[in-house]
Amino acid sequence: MKTEILKINDCQKSSDGLEHAAQILKQGGLVVFPTETVYGLGGDATAADVAKKIYTAKGRPSNNPLIIHIARPEDAEKYAYTNEYYYRLAQAFMPGPLTIILPKKDTIPPEVTGGLDTVAVRCPSHPVARELINKAQVPIAAPSANISGRPSPTSADYCITDLDGKVDMIIDGGECDIGLESTIVMLRQGTAILLRPGAITYDALCCVCENVEISAAAQGTLAENERPLAPGMMYRHYAPNASFVLLDGDTDKFIPYIKQRRQGGERCAAICSSNEAIQLNNQDTVVYGDPDDLITQAHRLFSALREADALGCDIIYARKPTTDGLGLALYNRMIRAASHTIRTI
Ligand code: TXA
Ligand code: MG
Repeated sequence: MKTEILKINDCQKSSDGLEHAAQILKQGGLVVFPTETVYGLGGDATAADVAKKIYTAKGRPSNNPLIIHIARPEDAEKYAYTNEYYYRLAQAFMPGPLTIILPKKDTIPPEVTGGLDTVAVRCPSHPVARELINKAQVPIAAPSANISGRPSPTSADYCITDLDGKVDMIIDGGECDIGLESTIVMLRQGTAILLRPGAITYDALCCVCENVEISAAAQGTLAENERPLAPGMMYRHYAPNASFVLLDGDTDKFIPYIKQRRQGGERCAAICSSNEAIQLNNQDTVVYGDPDDLITQAHRLFSALREADALGCDIIYARKPTTDGLGLALYNRMIRAASHTIRTI
């Protein structure tokens, strides 16, 4: 299949292009589009056969459910049974990087939700995403626009690398602001359970809901034989081709550790701060932000993993981040990319 690439800097100027993208969606095609978190691989969420096409293009198991993207929080009524807490959270954080799991209505086919009787609802804030959903007049089912298991794409180039020839169109809307996928919350009898941490942090959720729990999978403490509440948390994810190992220790330990491994003949790359890169003579290093700059680290993490991979080393090291605030989201992605390999140094 020939994939059309559409560059959009300004939604108003690209109104015709967006109309064309919306037509593709209405006709059951697949369109990759930017959101404020990561790029999504979108299709009509009300069509069972489209869900199958999404799973095939992404190479994803069809029991791992998709998020549906809506234009306005109240549009959730058409597809799910909402409640007071949904609207509290929606008022605080939508449009924005929050996904809420609700009991689903029959308007969403089971193929979209991997057979579950719940559906994940998200109202993105990115202007291109919003305009596309508005014009398509259908909810858009969209997983992250990467081949299953690879780091989520934060720019159109990564989507092209992964999905060129597998989708009808890729909309290039520049780099995603946040860089990590949305926070996912499940509502259960007045308790908000944090299934996947993101830019809407645990503390932010606590400002709106009295009871917030962090799921074991979100913290990376799920036991071997336990099933996570979000099926996707089960899979090895974000993994570069080289092995990725997290090192638990500060800069004073990190630098000598990597130098020593190199002296021993190991071909290793480091994802680190600019200060650490200098201390490593900028040799096989990828800078992703200073240790206290979690926003930049989040913005850069997935591209840093891809860039580190491109260096062609056998192993990639990064320091284990804090689990406070946005750090929990970073930690969650990094331990999964590292298949939970953490070494204390
Ligand atoms: O920021 C995002 O959320 C991005 C952009 C494109 O919106 N999308 C995204 O989708 O990250 P995906 O498919 O890569 O991740 C969705 C996660 C998976 O872990 C899936 O298992 C979980 O959401 N999920 C979806 N529906 C669910 C449901 N009904 N119950 C529990 N977990 C669900
Ligand atoms: Mg994903």
